[in-house]
Amino acid sequence: MTVQDKELVPGLAGIPAAESSISYIDGQAGILEYRGHRIETLAEKSNFEETCWLLWHGELPTRKQLDGFRARLAGYRGIPQEAVDVIERLPKGGHPMAALQAGMATLGMYSPNVDVHDQSQREDAYARLIAATPTLVAAFARARAGKPFVAPDPDLDTAANFLYMLTGETPDELAAHVLDVCLVLHADHTMNASTFAARVVASTEADPYSVCASAVGALKGPLHGGANERVLQQLETIGSADAVPAWLDKVSAEKGKIMGFGHRVYKTKDPRAKRLQTLVREVREKLGSTPVYDTALALEDAVVAKLGAKGIHPNVDFFSGIVYEKLGIPTDFFTPIFAIARVSGWLSHWNEQMHDNRIFRPGQIFTGSHDAVYVPIDER
Ligand code: SDX
Repeated sequence: MTVQDKELVPGLAGIPAAESSISYIDGQAGILEYRGHRIETLAEKSNFEETCWLLWHGELPTRKQLDGFRARLAGYRGIPQEAVDVIERLPKGGHPMAALQAGMATLGMYSPNVDVHDQSQREDAYARLIAATPTLVAAFARARAGKPFVAPDPDLDTAANFLYMLTGETPDELAAHVLDVCLVLHADHTMNASTFAARVVASTEADPYSVCASAVGALKGPLHGGANERVLQQLETIGSADAVPAWLDKVSAEKGKIMGFGHRVYKTKDPRAKRLQTLVREVREKLGSTPVYDTALALEDAVVAKLGAKGIHPNVDFFSGIVYEKLGIPTDFFTPIFAIARVSGWLSHWNEQMHDNRIFRPGQIFTGSHDAVYVPIDER
């Protein structure tokens, strides 16, 4: 049977692209597991650094292993001054995800070459990119605000350091904890578009910085990670809970997409959306009201009433932006935060791919013609 005889599956929906034991989703039941651990458990009991270890090694670290990993990350959070200089010269009107792509490629040029067939070198690159990605993101935020670069604090973990590098002040425990939970929730998610992009680039034996920079490009899109910033814009456009019905009727009539809803796999509420929603409640109680939250609740009720039967429910991007806004993070930095977390998933899949690699090269169903005649330009 040739490729020509096979049927095209748009978006490769449901087509396995790899075997993986890193994460698992049950889309009907709304279940997400990392290495067999339910996401609710990890969000409550774990932290981002421990989750990074779990994703890579397949088991939770001992205290000694986690302390060693944390020390390794602390040593890699700094970036060369030349990379800071490049980031500071990027156009201030550019999108932070474009700045992250440029930053990752630049970091790769100042980092040791990686033999992608060497497990220990892959593991070292894993630590380097997890540690430095927040620094790259914060460096652009500071540059765009016309503020000086803030170097990472070796005593702070990933979440706390990111907030520190954004503001120049040590964050309060609540803000650091809330962001840490968000990083755990966003770390991995089976064969999503950006992880698939990472695996395709990995399969060519490209370096991990190229793998991540390519995945950042995929995550940036509004149908994927870029949805989180658009959700907040959407809620602000709607303006209030009372305005939801008219807005939804208009969008539906125009066959528009409602940002933060729907999923290729989940046909019920995304378990990460549920945990992010409780985070919004926790943050509201301690940091004050969130006007867009009331609009979000009304929108969720209206969309689920209208489209729930089609399996359209809130996804991970629906509440995350409300949390980040309360933490004082600029809207167009929401997706870079998603990337800070997902670097761990992308590279864990890179590691898995390199264990039994074959370059991705799918086929196509040809719909063109043959034996075309070349007509000289003056006769066309
Ligand atoms: C992420 O894959 C992952 O795991 C991704 C992610 C991760 O952690 O990596 O979970 C993160 O990207 C979450 C998704 C963020 N994107 C959005 O919120 C953008 C809005 N959502 C849609 O664009 C859509 O739901 C997708 C892209 C998420 C999924 O698209 P599919 O699976 O290709 O579904 P589809 O576009 O074919 O829609 C099927 C039907 C269509 O209606 P019909 O033509 O059959 O009548 O459902 C409708 C769609 O119109 N539909 C929506 C909708 N999502 C689907 N209608 C209105 N609003 C929506 N959001």
